[in-house]
Amino acid sequence: MRPPVAVQSVQKGAGRMVLGYKGSVISIRDFDRDGILRVLSTAAHMEAEDHYGLLEGRILGTMFLEPSTRTRLSFASAMMKLGGKVLDLGDPELTSFKKGESLSDAIRIVAGYCDVIALRHPWEGAARLAAEIAGRPVINAGDGANQHPTQTFLDLYTIRKVRGQIDGLTVGFVGDLKYGRTVHSLVTALTRFDCRQVFVSPPNLAVPSGLLRELEESGVSYEQSDDLAGVLPELDILYSTRIQQERFPDIIEYERVKGAYRIDRALLESCVVKDSLRIMHPLPRVDELSPDLDDTPYAVYFEQARNGVPVRQALLAMVLGKA
Ligand code: CP
Repeated sequence: MRPPVAVQSVQKGAGRMVLGYKGSVISIRDFDRDGILRVLSTAAHMEAEDHYGLLEGRILGTMFLEPSTRTRLSFASAMMKLGGKVLDLGDPELTSFKKGESLSDAIRIVAGYCDVIALRHPWEGAARLAAEIAGRPVINAGDGANQHPTQTFLDLYTIRKVRGQIDGLTVGFVGDLKYGRTVHSLVTALTRFDCRQVFVSPPNLAVPSGLLRELEESGVSYEQSDDLAGVLPELDILYSTRIQQERFPDIIEYERVKGAYRIDRALLESCVVKDSLRIMHPLPRVDELSPDLDDTPYAVYFEQARNGVPVRQALLAMVLGKA
């Protein structure tokens, strides 16, 4: 067994602050700029060095009550890379939820079997409820259309890696800005930095008014448009999102807007975008992002997904008091 490598520079500089919401990672709103930068710097340490053994003997419980590929597997990969183990709830259809067990009871039970819980749930606020009753750290892996804070940390980590900085950038969001929880979390996170935000969506999928109010109260510069080609030349980062079919109360509404914005190589060429433009997407994509972009220098979405591992290593180590 290799001895664990401590995350020394982070421990020395920052001490042991309580992370996020009472030691849990529930919403990006619970993090100020310094807190965000501390996570990003810990993730960089995780990526630069092997920290195998740091979480030896610890168990991550994963409870995913909505589909996931990246978040679930990168959490598992992160825990295994730190020498910990993963206890996965598996298909919710095969659990006692089907017998009517409440989320509160299930959280209490799983908390007795592990040291930290990663929870994805369709209800907004489910992760905060879980954090109140688990008696151990809870990490929100997505709660309905509300928040996806670990995605936001990996989005910020990616922006900093591919652009060298976060401050000073113009970040454009396109697609489903109403239901996209990755958008909501990242929009809030960018208010901690000096960024201009541009929102492009069909009118009925615009950023919720409460979030726009938050931007105004923070004095953040933003604009709204439905003309993607018109704003593309100004952007440093384009954050594309899938239309979240599963969140539409009415399928006819979804049919009306699906395929509203498709980004492909021809569009970028016709708009004369900056050479330094980078296109991000939380994935999965459906048809909004053409595969003909994949081998262009603009595309960073697969790198973005890979960055989920060091970022989740950092968050697991931090909530468990090891970084
Ligand atoms: N980005 C993201 O949350 O992907 P998954 O739904 O596959 O976890």
